[in-house]
Amino acid sequence: MVLHITFCGVSILANPLSERNKAVDELVQRMTMQEKIGQLQQVPGNADGNYKPELVDMVKQGYLGSTLNIRGAKITNQLQRIAVEESRLKIPILFAFDVIAGYQTIFPEPLAQASSWDLDLIEKIEATAAREAYAAGIKWTFAPMLDIARDPRWGRIVEGAGEDPYLGAQIAKARVLGFQGQELGAKNKILACAKHWVGYGAAQAGREYNTTDISEPELRNIYFPPFKAAVDAGVATVMSGFNDLNGVPSSGNPFILRQVLHDEWKFKGFVVSDWESIDELIKHGFAADEKEAAFHGFSAGVDMEMTSQDYRKHLAQLVKESRISQEQLDDSVRRILRMKYNLGLFENPYVSEDNEKPALGPTDHLRLAREAAVKSMVLLKNEKNILPIQRNIKSIAVIGPLADDRDASLGWWRGDHPHQGEKFRDNEARSVVSVLSGLRNHFSSKTKISFSKACDISFCSRQDLKKAVALAKSAQLAIVVVGESAEMSGEAGSRSQIDLPGGQLELVKAIQATGVKLVVVLVNGRPLAIPWIAENVPVILEAWFGGQEAGNAVADILTGDENPSGKLPITVPRSIGQVPIYYNQKNSGRPNDLTKPKERYFSKYLDESNLPQFAFGYGLSFTQFTISDLKISATSIDAQANLKVSVQVENIGKRAGDEVVQLYIHRLVGSITRPQKELKAFRRISLTPGKKQNIEFILGPNELGFYGKNNKFSVEPGKIELIVGNSSLDGLKTSFEIR
Ligand code: NOJ
Repeated sequence: MVLHITFCGVSILANPLSERNKAVDELVQRMTMQEKIGQLQQVPGNADGNYKPELVDMVKQGYLGSTLNIRGAKITNQLQRIAVEESRLKIPILFAFDVIAGYQTIFPEPLAQASSWDLDLIEKIEATAAREAYAAGIKWTFAPMLDIARDPRWGRIVEGAGEDPYLGAQIAKARVLGFQGQELGAKNKILACAKHWVGYGAAQAGREYNTTDISEPELRNIYFPPFKAAVDAGVATVMSGFNDLNGVPSSGNPFILRQVLHDEWKFKGFVVSDWESIDELIKHGFAADEKEAAFHGFSAGVDMEMTSQDYRKHLAQLVKESRISQEQLDDSVRRILRMKYNLGLFENPYVSEDNEKPALGPTDHLRLAREAAVKSMVLLKNEKNILPIQRNIKSIAVIGPLADDRDASLGWWRGDHPHQGEKFRDNEARSVVSVLSGLRNHFSSKTKISFSKACDISFCSRQDLKKAVALAKSAQLAIVVVGESAEMSGEAGSRSQIDLPGGQLELVKAIQATGVKLVVVLVNGRPLAIPWIAENVPVILEAWFGGQEAGNAVADILTGDENPSGKLPITVPRSIGQVPIYYNQKNSGRPNDLTKPKERYFSKYLDESNLPQFAFGYGLSFTQFTISDLKISATSIDAQANLKVSVQVENIGKRAGDEVVQLYIHRLVGSITRPQKELKAFRRISLTPGKKQNIEFILGPNELGFYGKNNKFSVEPGKIELIVGNSSLDGLKTSFEIR
């Protein structure tokens, strides 16, 4: 059925596409220059979701294409009504918001979600977040963040999927599909935004907003793949980054915006700048003034300007001077209007005011948040038979600044939920489950669960330590919950040290010294360097910022109600000096040889091992899996052929569990040097005890090729080693040849 709708005297057909494009063209023809430029302008509302009164005039004049942070069904409808009923052309506003780890229901932060390696789960999380955001009038999120990050000093590492281009690309696709669905415009679906294009995660020294310098092969092989996957999955928008990239800031960089995104990838959506990143071209020293900033940003390919208003002030003049063509301007306006049409905004600009839920998410969303938190947590160490905690245990001491904390697990991005100290419009207490409450929910009154905060994240007094030690001595088991506060990561959350902040290590050492059975739970947004803990504490659970159900999930795992299955999506260093450290590093001309520890002239440190504390892909389970019977379909293949790889996985332990089987390749020789290992496939499977499963992977040109000489993608001939295992550390090996 083809639906006819009339809008502004223009007949819009919900289908087919060509008719919609025609409607957009006709609309563009009727727009004044200022109305066109208005569509390229995005302005923020207040943190609490309201808008400033001065916006109303802009909206009435038709000079405002989009907003960010304005949210809530009533508020967005109010402003929308002004756009649709009082402006000349009645073009609806596109309301945007950062929906990064959920909207009402707060899920684990993205880095934590990535530890699940569960693409269906991640897609479901974003679909749920989209549903909640949609009900609050939001039609566009600035997510997913697809920045590959190898430096845990950089606070925004928490917002991405870690260090690997392949895992990052799979997750990118899952997130885009979760937000947008298969087709734009469906109810409960919102536009996604692939950000930050590109290389922002390589900020030098891990310092937020800092310069990046990345060679083209490294951009194409490491930093681009998640974005390419998002574009292939139909992502509607892309955000240009804050970073200076090889001397040309991303928000004014025609190579990445015009050449790669438009010409090579045929991206059909639109590009939005990051917050004031057009105006920041001036501070970068790339544009002399606002007018030049508008010129560089727009001509490079940024369609919409977020927050700063250099386009609004200068584009008309730039068109008049023919430095920007009318056609270029119209093209950007069309891209934005097309998205509004595709979303169905012209037909249906409002949202129901009955559906907006109170702050607490519905129960099925909470269930999903708990499942996500369980699957996101990574068991890093499990010795001395402490886990699972027996039901009949008499006493547990729960200790630490984050043990009864209800803020940190919400992370930096927390949807509609206020940060500590902020008061929001809808300030209903959200039910965030701390580790202490999670444990109390799990045990009967026969188990005495005592609690001591012991110290703050930043400081531990002698007296506080003494009290905590006494409490630990009185219990059969101590669970110490330490880590970072939410503000220590996220945007502008870089740290120069990546160890446990404050006196928390002292606290762990003091409890360990009592000889009590000890579990350390880490709550944090970045990999932390914890060499002493890794060596001395028998049980370590990486809980990340696990969302509002984190406490229940920690208890689910510690009690054995759930079997841990998370795997690190990022390397955990031993010390800050190793950074950047990542599994897919290159060999160098003098790779370290561990059998010759006395040899000096190797690529190594005099005072630190080259090895990470915990490797990419690593994570323990309460059961044990074996991987055997590695087979490949051929030992020599043509460049365009596929190779089948199969292994058998068996659960030889006593509990049902999930394993993530990982396939890595090592191309021995290339026209440019290749990493020691590259993840090229993985599968997450569930097996009950004694059960076996054969799994098959297909490696084709996409997996076996790379950007080599002249930055061209090809499958070069040569020998490839193949490794299948349950982490990047080791596995079964074979090799084959590409002819
Ligand atoms: C700046 C951040 O870099 C970006 O990720 C975010 O989407 C915008 N602010 C809008 O909040």
